[in-house]
Amino acid sequence: MSQSALIPSLHGRRILLGVTGGIAAYKAADLTRRLIEAGAEVQVVMTDSALHFVGDPTFQALSGKPVRHSLWDEAAEAAMGHIELARWPDLILVAPATANFIAKLAHGAADDLLSTLCLATDKPIAVAPAMNRLMWANAATQSNVATLTARSIAVLGPGAGYQACGEIGEGRMREPLDLRANVAELLSSGPLKGVHAVVTAGPTREPLDPVRFLSNRSSGKQGYAVAAALRDQGASVTLISGPTNLSTPAGVTRIDIESAADMLKAALAASRDAQIFVAAAAVADYRAASIAGQKIKKNDAELTLPLARTDDVLATVRKAYPQLFVVGFAAETEKLEEHARGKLQRKNLDMIAANWVGAGRAFDQDDNSLQVFWPDGGEALAPATKAEVARGLVALIIRQRAAKK
Ligand code: CTP
Repeated sequence: MSQSALIPSLHGRRILLGVTGGIAAYKAADLTRRLIEAGAEVQVVMTDSALHFVGDPTFQALSGKPVRHSLWDEAAEAAMGHIELARWPDLILVAPATANFIAKLAHGAADDLLSTLCLATDKPIAVAPAMNRLMWANAATQSNVATLTARSIAVLGPGAGYQACGEIGEGRMREPLDLRANVAELLSSGPLKGVHAVVTAGPTREPLDPVRFLSNRSSGKQGYAVAAALRDQGASVTLISGPTNLSTPAGVTRIDIESAADMLKAALAASRDAQIFVAAAAVADYRAASIAGQKIKKNDAELTLPLARTDDVLATVRKAYPQLFVVGFAAETEKLEEHARGKLQRKNLDMIAANWVGAGRAFDQDDNSLQVFWPDGGEALAPATKAEVARGLVALIIRQRAAKK
């Protein structure tokens, strides 16, 4: 079972990273990389003194954009003037922010590009202070920081510990991964903010012998789209996936499994602190009663393989966590509503999303349509891309979950 690191989603978010002149400027290079890794677009603006600590090619290579540092760079201003640049980001993050820069911000100075941008923007601003402990403790700095806080500028840190000057105390820049988490928190919004959602997706593989398995045609596309749609509404999402060819949606934590038994174990563990569970996986209903230790050899006779039932992941998770909002899927070739409602009731679900399957329908297609049922109602989601259908389903989950509470 492998698990990708928990990377918050900053997909499509624009961050203007201001780098001012402190030794922690080198850490801003890692921060740039980490923000990009989470899906953000990063425009770096350096002050003149920052350029004494790190060269701009480093930031240009990491961010993929030319670094801006001057108000008087005619070519850069022609491409995007500083007023336009001030409107561009979703967030301005100044990291590291020196005592001098914090003072300038507190007093509304606009004597270089970065301070001008901070004054000319209506976007949220965050600063990550980095300075010697005595400079941080100084009453002037503390009063400037209080001014920033009163103006709703987020002050992230500083941390405490060894300082580049050899002293120990408060004033270190917060670590890049912590700053990235702070940025995600500052930018996160949506009705599912603070909600953990677990989604199962894809097929399972039930081994018969060391080289063979039973599986099905599920591509995982609908489940992956549901995971991305939940993320887009602010949820933190764990995706428990059987083997697929899909890439992990940005910002989603993916746990890879093979068998139904693995999926059950992962689902029970991940759902412990979850509020929403969506079972989009096509879990095998049967597994080999016993897995052959060696490759099964052919002979002239017919082969009969004894099969045993797998555990029902969805029903087991529902029983284990009665508080969860639980959504199942149903794939039907006939009597769709009757069969889907039967499953809704039998497995004690909050909602079930049913689709027609058969030749050319649903499996491995990019489009889908769903009929969604809950105990006292239902709604159809018209044929559309799996991403659009997923957005529709998540909107229904949000609505029905609110109605249930
Ligand atoms: N499911 C599960 N674990 C299983 C089998 C199914 O979690 N071992 C989940 C699926 O992810 C899906 C729902 O249960 O959310 C499907 O229910 P199921 O009763 O298996 O319906 P179908 O797959 O449509 O199959 P059948 O019609 O044969 O019951």
